[in-house]
Amino acid sequence: MNPAAPESGPSTRALRVVQWATGALGRSVIRGVLDRPDLELAGVRVYDPAKVGVDGGTLAGRDPAGVTATDDVTRILELDADCVVYAPGPFAMPFDDLDTVCALLASGKNVIATTGYVYPHSHGPRLVNQLEDACKRGGTSLHGLGVNPGFMSDVMPLTLSRLARQITHVYARECSDFSGHPSWRMVHDMAGFGKSEEAYLASMGVARAAMRSIFCESLHLVAAGLGLTLDEIDTDVVYRLAGEDFDVAAGRIPRGTVAAARWTFSGLIDQRPVVTVEAVHKSDAARISDWGRPGYSVRVHGRPSITLTTGEDWVSNGISAAAAHALNAIPVVCAAPAGIRTFLDLPPILGRASPRVTTG
Ligand SMILES: NC(=O)c1ccc[n+]([C@@H]2O[C@H](COP(=O)([O-])OP(=O)(O)OC[C@H]3O[C@@H](n4cnc5c(N)ncnc54)[C@H](OP(=O)(O)O)[C@@H]3O)[C@@H](O)[C@H]2O)c1
Repeated sequence: MNPAAPESGPSTRALRVVQWATGALGRSVIRGVLDRPDLELAGVRVYDPAKVGVDGGTLAGRDPAGVTATDDVTRILELDADCVVYAPGPFAMPFDDLDTVCALLASGKNVIATTGYVYPHSHGPRLVNQLEDACKRGGTSLHGLGVNPGFMSDVMPLTLSRLARQITHVYARECSDFSGHPSWRMVHDMAGFGKSEEAYLASMGVARAAMRSIFCESLHLVAAGLGLTLDEIDTDVVYRLAGEDFDVAAGRIPRGTVAAARWTFSGLIDQRPVVTVEAVHKSDAARISDWGRPGYSVRVHGRPSITLTTGEDWVSNGISAAAAHALNAIPVVCAAPAGIRTFLDLPPILGRASPRVTTG
């Protein structure tokens, strides 16, 4: 349902939002929804049986919001809601959850995903047709976003590209420190930290497919934005082992287990890289000196060349930033015409000022 679609004029009522999964990001989204008068919490989907029946506000560390969390997908599909902020844990294989996303779209709810879907076209026409068909049935739109991917590897280079002509290469680099991330699922299961080398390599096929699936979307989005079509994408990964036992917020990284990895994805045309994304993930940046300090770097090689470099304090809280991106996108995505809507299709997504708020 697109209540704020241009043809029907701007929405005058609060947009009803479902939060799908209440991990670190989902809880931050709930707090943001509760703080914004233009948004209303309509539902909360949880996986953890211990969270079923708990109030969504309580789960997010706030006063009860009068919305009970459920693991019943049918109940969520039947809800009257404008938008789902879709932030489950990563799935075993890319698009294991495609049917769920399609069902949400077909049920009349716009979907903002933090799990890919930044440029679904990179996965070929079959996936695009399935998503477009679901959007058509529900009169809804789908938008994927985040901090990376979903901002630094794609939105930011495309934005910087406005200042250059004759662009020959676009490079984006992330170096992230996972030492403060609260989720073992993200740190261990997804990033692979704390796994023995043998276990890490055994899970490499799945990890490679998952990482490639999400980052190839950024590469193709940048290429499409610059008017290019990539021939292929090259993927490379190298990793480092922990030299000693140490603890991070999510758990223990034993000596000799995987402690850092550097992924490189290169979009090639005629065997020449034109878009490159490097993602360095460290379980604890203070202990792993390889591959530079945490932060981001974006370079657009052209006339002139543009470089943007940030240190590790570039954003005070990455999860909160990804959640804010989702929140700020809600009115724009709800107002968009039905269909897959990427950064290339949507008007600017902007933050909201709250000049009187001094804390929180
Ligand atoms: N692109 C970006 O920049 C960016 C940034 C941050 C996060 N993300 C993505 O957003 C998602 C959420 O991140 P997060 O930091 O909130 O992660 P998280 O803290 O690990 O939370 C993930 C949540 O997924 C749910 N879950 C549990 N079992 C599951 C299963 N079998 N299948 C699917 N979901 C399950 C749980 O929800 P309940 O606790 O409600 O049961 C869990 O809390 C992740 O996929 C992450 O990769 C992307």
